[in-house]
Amino acid sequence: MKNVAVIGAGTMGNGIAHVFAQSGFAVTLIDVSQEQLNKAMATITKNFDRQVAKGSITEDIKANSLKSIGINTSLAAGVQNADLIVEAATENTELKLSIFKQMDEYAPASCILSTNTSSISITKIASVTNRPTQVIGMHFMNPVPVMKLVEIINGYATSAHTTNTIIELSKQLGKIPCSVKDYPGFIANRILMPMINEAIYSLYEGVAGVEEIDTVMKLGMAHPMGPLQLADFIGLDVCLSILHVLHDGFGNPKYAPCPLLVNMVTAKKLGVKTGEGFYSYAQGGKELVVSSNFK
Ligand code: CAA
Repeated sequence: MKNVAVIGAGTMGNGIAHVFAQSGFAVTLIDVSQEQLNKAMATITKNFDRQVAKGSITEDIKANSLKSIGINTSLAAGVQNADLIVEAATENTELKLSIFKQMDEYAPASCILSTNTSSISITKIASVTNRPTQVIGMHFMNPVPVMKLVEIINGYATSAHTTNTIIELSKQLGKIPCSVKDYPGFIANRILMPMINEAIYSLYEGVAGVEEIDTVMKLGMAHPMGPLQLADFIGLDVCLSILHVLHDGFGNPKYAPCPLLVNMVTAKKLGVKTGEGFYSYAQGGKELVVSSNFK
């Protein structure tokens, strides 16, 4: 494998392009918005600068990696030579199905089509293509350059050859792959989201405050972020949508999203990306400030 196309230049897409480029692949980053592509390249450059400043990579590696990333606003043109496509567009089923139909139409017959979806069924995505044996989930974690895991999700029809190729490829990126089956939430979010939901329920019921809940999990369980800070980091809209997938997929009330989470998403308090969630990010510093709604 040499040529990798990444579809979607948001946080995950730019992180995925970053790690492939750093590992010597030729990357085409594709997005319908030229402005989003320019923003993504600025973010990737900033993240490489951070690695150079920390001494984890050299200026040469940074320069070569940046040189190996091309950008394109056309999916058809961007995937025409791809050996692998990683789709990292917005987490919306209809959008992903439409993108996969186009990937199937324009990519070479041998190309593996992968998705970074956090919860949409790989089997369903594969079903709109003519190559379901070559469709697989590659679920990277945010921030992609830092987090070691790639959750590999096998759809109902994914072939062993596709799985093995993607496992080996993930190792080439310096990541640790874990292969799982295609059921709602896979493993990462099936376990993470109920924990976050329970933290929100604990706040909603007044058992403890934002700082107390996060401190218990950070200092008591050695989590790098407490569950409420992590929810802000992931995006509360994303957490809510994954809980809906779990709730609908299993039909079990234990996955019902907390009404406080639903209210916050309706009020557009989505966490870091909107400047406020359980914490307020308006002041821009590193120190965590609890949102005035929870003081
Ligand atoms: N690119 C490159 N490097 C980055 C980076 C980025 N975007 N962000 C952070 N780093 C590096 C820093 O340079 C630093 O490197 P060194 O260790 O070499 O010094 C290291 O990461 C730690 O960063 P900081 O010192 O700035 O900050 P920190 O110690 O507070 O760590 C964190 C930040 C890595 C994000 C840490 O808080 C953490 O691990 N949080 C939990 C993240 C997590 O759980 N992610 C999964 C979310 S779920 C998901 O993504 C999937 C889903 O489906 C919802």
